[in-house]
Amino acid sequence: MSVSPDRDLQAPSAEAGASKPPRHVALIMDGNGRWAAARGLPRTEGHRQGLVALRKVIRHAAKIGVDVITIYSFSSENWSRPETEVSFLMGLLRRFVQRDLSELHEANIRIRIIGGRQDLEPGILKLLQEAEDLTRDNSGLDLVVAFNYGSRAEITRAARKLAEQVAAGVIRPEDITESALAAALDTGGLPDPDLIIRTSGEMRLSNFLLWQAAYSEFYFCDLLWPDFDEAAFDAALDCFCARERRYGGLSAKTY
Ligand code: IPE
Ligand code: IPE
Ligand code: MG
Repeated sequence: MSVSPDRDLQAPSAEAGASKPPRHVALIMDGNGRWAAARGLPRTEGHRQGLVALRKVIRHAAKIGVDVITIYSFSSENWSRPETEVSFLMGLLRRFVQRDLSELHEANIRIRIIGGRQDLEPGILKLLQEAEDLTRDNSGLDLVVAFNYGSRAEITRAARKLAEQVAAGVIRPEDITESALAAALDTGGLPDPDLIIRTSGEMRLSNFLLWQAAYSEFYFCDLLWPDFDEAAFDAALDCFCARERRYGGLSAKTY
């Protein structure tokens, strides 16, 4: 059997064992609505408290030396929610960028946005671009914000980009390798997530990082996102460190 020519793709190390802490943690921050409903509050209050939890987790991740945090903040399917909730979430994102950007910048955090940019309200797009531009040269934690993000749309965009390059004669069909496709995704250049955490007891990806999650470890917890905190994050990391990643190879114990 021949070795795949695409073995260079962010090559997972063949070494088994995962006692190293994760470099890249992705968070599906779910359960804000249920958190609010359990208190007889409007769903929007859950989102507000969710932002409080997010600030804590970002600060903590930066402190303990995680390289990349990706947060699922708004999916391309979340537009189907009631108009009032969508506009509250847009306002929250605006406030997050306006109020927190300078602090994030001072903390040497680099912000990157992934997700569809077409059709975004110009004011929001401008804010997101400003956040990326201001923090582009920072060298601390990479904070990747998945906004208007859907993985199928992202993969489709990447495939179209490569198809256009073939049509223009810039590349040949055989240049479309796994690494070329990975580089054409919104996450191009970032390591794949080592650990994906989803709160609120739901066990699905909901169109998040489908390509990038090929060998991610998953951690599901019942906490609703506004209740997630530093200790919960550490518990997820401890669980990750006890896992053995084999990437299709054999367990170290087998040798
Ligand atoms: C996650 O919480 C936040 C977003 C999807 C924006 P939800 O709003 O999905 O909360 P639940 O799942 O309804 O409790
Ligand atoms: C996923 O949560 C999206 C975000 C956390 C932003 P959802 O609440 O939208 O996912 P489903 O609908 O339960 O799958
Ligand atoms: Mg939800």
